[in-house]
Amino acid sequence: MAQAQTNLRVDGITVEFPGVKALDGVSFSARGGEVHALMGENGAGKSTLLKVLSGVNRVTAGQLWIDDEAVVFANAREALASGVAIIYQELTLSPNLSVAENLLLGQLPAHRGFIDRRQLRERAMTILEDLGEGGIHPSTKVRELSIGQQQMIEIGRALLRDARIIAFDEPTSSLSVQEIRHLKRIVARLRDEGRVVLYVTHRMEEVFEMCDAVTVFRDGRHIRTHDTLEGVDNDLIVSEMVGRDIADVYGYRPRQQGEVLMRLEGIEGRGVRAPVSLEIHRGEVLGLFGLVGAGRSELMRLVCGAERASGGRVIFDGEARRFASAGQAIRAGIAMCPEDRKSQGIFPVASVSDNLNVSCRRFFRRWGIFRNARRETENTRHYIRQLSIKTPGPKTPIANLSGGNQQKVILSRWLAEQIELFVMDEPTRGIDVGARRDIYSLLYDLAEQGKSVLVISSDLAEVSSICDRIGVMRDGELVDVVPRDQATPERLLGLALPA
Ligand SMILES: Nc1ncnc2c1ncn2[C@@H]1O[C@H](COP(=O)(O)OP(=O)(O)OP(=O)(O)O)[C@@H](O)[C@H]1O
Ligand SMILES: [Mg+2]
Repeated sequence: MAQAQTNLRVDGITVEFPGVKALDGVSFSARGGEVHALMGENGAGKSTLLKVLSGVNRVTAGQLWIDDEAVVFANAREALASGVAIIYQELTLSPNLSVAENLLLGQLPAHRGFIDRRQLRERAMTILEDLGEGGIHPSTKVRELSIGQQQMIEIGRALLRDARIIAFDEPTSSLSVQEIRHLKRIVARLRDEGRVVLYVTHRMEEVFEMCDAVTVFRDGRHIRTHDTLEGVDNDLIVSEMVGRDIADVYGYRPRQQGEVLMRLEGIEGRGVRAPVSLEIHRGEVLGLFGLVGAGRSELMRLVCGAERASGGRVIFDGEARRFASAGQAIRAGIAMCPEDRKSQGIFPVASVSDNLNVSCRRFFRRWGIFRNARRETENTRHYIRQLSIKTPGPKTPIANLSGGNQQKVILSRWLAEQIELFVMDEPTRGIDVGARRDIYSLLYDLAEQGKSVLVISSDLAEVSSICDRIGVMRDGELVDVVPRDQATPERLLGLALPA
């Protein structure tokens, strides 16, 4: 059992990378028995702090204290051995090893005599059951588990080490509604056991629902720690995060709409059980809402040629079209910015500029073949400004950017195309409030130019606030299309939930 009332003190921590001070003399404390939210814009230094805790990042100055003992960790293994576990944005399990192997990884000292493997395995099973995952067989390969289950294995690994400090980095960003509920229960339990729980999130409602204290960072600096959330509200935290008041994050702009740009007539195929018919107008921002697995991305993949439709047709710009590939759709003027940018979108070692220009390079060619380096750099600078992408420069490797800033780069890649219809799958996942506003305003700019935007989103507040109409999908079927003035969160959720 974790000992009662662990204390974590972060004292004057500074972390520097070439060209960036990721953390600048940060000090605050977190108590055992509380869930302590860490908030801040993209690039504020939240993940960097967690990496200091786990011995991954070196500090230039400052000291960590756990229960009034000064600690320095050389690597993640040392940190874990001292009871500090981090559940990262990108999970760190070995996909091809079994659940048991992953749970016990690093638990088997190589030169300390006998290991009671059986006892360890039993302990692993107990912990799985304890986490409400008794249904997972220990010999299952981790790659066969859902993201939510994988996260539970990571938590199990921390519990096996009896971690006193457990930190989560945006844990709910790729979970289903059910998995989120389960995770929230586990987090509450970890807190009740007296552990220090640090919780990085961009979702304000989670802070008020789950957290007891909140620390806000801005540009690597500690802005404020609220030891209690009494008297703290959404607007206060937002203004501390961005350094100014944002009255309305969504900034909805009414527009004149034009003719129909795309009409779907009875589209069906993998993941879409009942034929879908739907229109989107020029100048429109159309939402597609639904629970994870409702068929929203699948539908758009059928439309955009990433997957073959078994029936129906697409009328785009007055012409019946059947796209055999995503490339064909792009040439026709439809771009789909995928949800899973990590595996589908990013070239980690390449620069910000290369990542941003890959898809529009052909428009920038000189005499057909040569790259136009100057135009590429100009284009990159344009989007760095427009979306406030936090990077030392266009040539910085994209892997050095914070999660949210990487996302903005990938998003700009699609905006740079000569595109009429933008399909955006969860465009603001992991993106902070200030940057969200930039992105929404950009969507409206596109719509005002007579282009169309289709936003797939699981964020209820987002779809009901930014879209002109919202299509709701449930279980592979389009159940309704709700106009903005009737799109209350209750109505949308009611349509999306299983009957
Ligand atoms: N390995 C690295 N090399 C160079 N710069 C880095 C490295 N890791 C982080 N940075 C920089 O440090 C700053 C803080 O990044 P960090 O990942 O901590 O932000 P964050 O608050 O977690 O943001 P997000 O909400 O986008 O995840 C950013 O400017 C980032 O570009
Ligand atoms: Mg981060």
